Amino acid sequence: MKWKITLLYIASIIGLLLTVLIVQVAIVTYFVFHNNKLNHQESSPEEITLNLKKQIQWMNGNFYLTKKGEHILTHNKAWMQIVDTNGNVVYNAHTPKNVKQHYTAKDIVFLYKYSVDGYTIFVSELEKNNEKWSYIVAFPYQRVSRFLIYLNINNMFSLYPYGILMLVIAAILCVLIFAYGVAKYMARPVWMLMDNITNLSKGIYEQKSVNKGIYKDVFASLKQLSTNLQELDKKRKQLDKMREEWITNLTHDLKTPLSSIKGYSELLADKNYHFTTEERAKYAKIIESKSLYIEKLIDDLKLTYQLKNDILPLNKKDTDIIKILRDLIISYVNNPAYQDKNIEFIANSTSLILKIDEKLIQRALNNIIINAIVHNSSGTHIKVDVKDDKHAVYIFVEDNGRGIPEEELEHLFDRYFRGSNTKNIEGSGLGLAIAKQIINAHNGEIHVQSKWGKGTTTTVVLKKRIN
Ligand SMILES: Nc1ncnc2c1ncn2[C@@H]1O[C@H](COP(=O)(O)OP(=O)(O)O)[C@@H](O)[C@H]1O
Ligand SMILES: [Mg+2]
Repeated sequence: MKWKITLLYIASIIGLLLTVLIVQVAIVTYFVFHNNKLNHQESSPEEITLNLKKQIQWMNGNFYLTKKGEHILTHNKAWMQIVDTNGNVVYNAHTPKNVKQHYTAKDIVFLYKYSVDGYTIFVSELEKNNEKWSYIVAFPYQRVSRFLIYLNINNMFSLYPYGILMLVIAAILCVLIFAYGVAKYMARPVWMLMDNITNLSKGIYEQKSVNKGIYKDVFASLKQLSTNLQELDKKRKQLDKMREEWITNLTHDLKTPLSSIKGYSELLADKNYHFTTEERAKYAKIIESKSLYIEKLIDDLKLTYQLKNDILPLNKKDTDIIKILRDLIISYVNNPAYQDKNIEFIANSTSLILKIDEKLIQRALNNIIINAIVHNSSGTHIKVDVKDDKHAVYIFVEDNGRGIPEEELEHLFDRYFRGSNTKNIEGSGLGLAIAKQIINAHNGEIHVQSKWGKGTTTTVVLKKRIN
């Protein structure tokens, strides 16, 4: 594949060179042929010289030039002489002063070969009065120049065939080397890009990168893409691991209450055994609480997926957030299971109205406060503090319990994440994920600060003007 690209570049460069060559040859040919045709008719000096012959007239023993002939000479800034067989000039037309009036045969040959005094000379013959005359036409050097080219045919043939072959081979080699060099230079970044993309497809995220040249931006984008993919891959693996752990835990979590439910219901169904009313009530209570637990677990799972996929419409109404918190805390304080915790509620006003979904916000706050209760040992002090300013309401849930290890803090809001401080404590790892989803759906913020061994503070900020 890499070689195909290089070959493509080489072929394009050779193609380009050939096209340029062909076009140039075509243009040169056009100008040579087409333009020369025009020149031929108008201004070829040989033609003019020959044409002049027709304009030279003989009358009463004298030569004279027709009007047209005069015009031709003036137009070409040329002059003319007619010489008899003895070399004497018998007629001058437009001739400058110091031009010879007698020529030897040698002179005439010399004239024809070289330009003389700034003139290029053409000589021809005419017959008048049964005699032969020579006539000389001189064109200014600027208008007509003549070059003599000597060809040594022997030398030329000595080049043939090996010399010519060598020239052709040298030219082909030059073109190939040049094309290869250029093609390799041009194809290199594309090779590297291909390597990078192939690596990406294999899940290798290391990228060879070039920070200059025209492909700079492509390399940068690819690097960004690779980083993003790597992060996504990492997250996916983490999520997979969590989900796996969660399924194991969930099966365990469901199995334990289910086996209690099964056991107690079998017991209650046993006709041979007579229960006292207290016993019956006690077992029924256990069955009820275990069922509630399972129900909550399934509910949480449903809610988090609904929130995640944005399929839960928020039912926002004016609601007193202080009342929600007060009711929640009263329920904890009255709950016999939480008697070992010391729960305190402080608020800087008696009522704070926010436009929120009451049930969901209650659920989020419940998840947060319950965490402070269940994840900490007996005697932990829990303080729920509500403050507000012009813009927002701030709810602080603070405990002096066991705290959360620092490296776990960033995962608290991940679904299924359960801390290492949760051994033997029931839970799904969904509480904080759900709380964050709900708070975010209300454009609010949630943060957890914690020190291992010192305690945890969870802060919720809800803006006052939520549209
Ligand atoms: N107040 C807290 N004190 C100690 N640990 C906490 C507290 N709040 C949250 N955590 C930790 O955060 C983890 C995630 O909480 P959460 O999402 O509610 O899951 P779950 O309570 O089901 O374990 C908990 O497992 C626990 O380790
Ligand atoms: Mg929880």
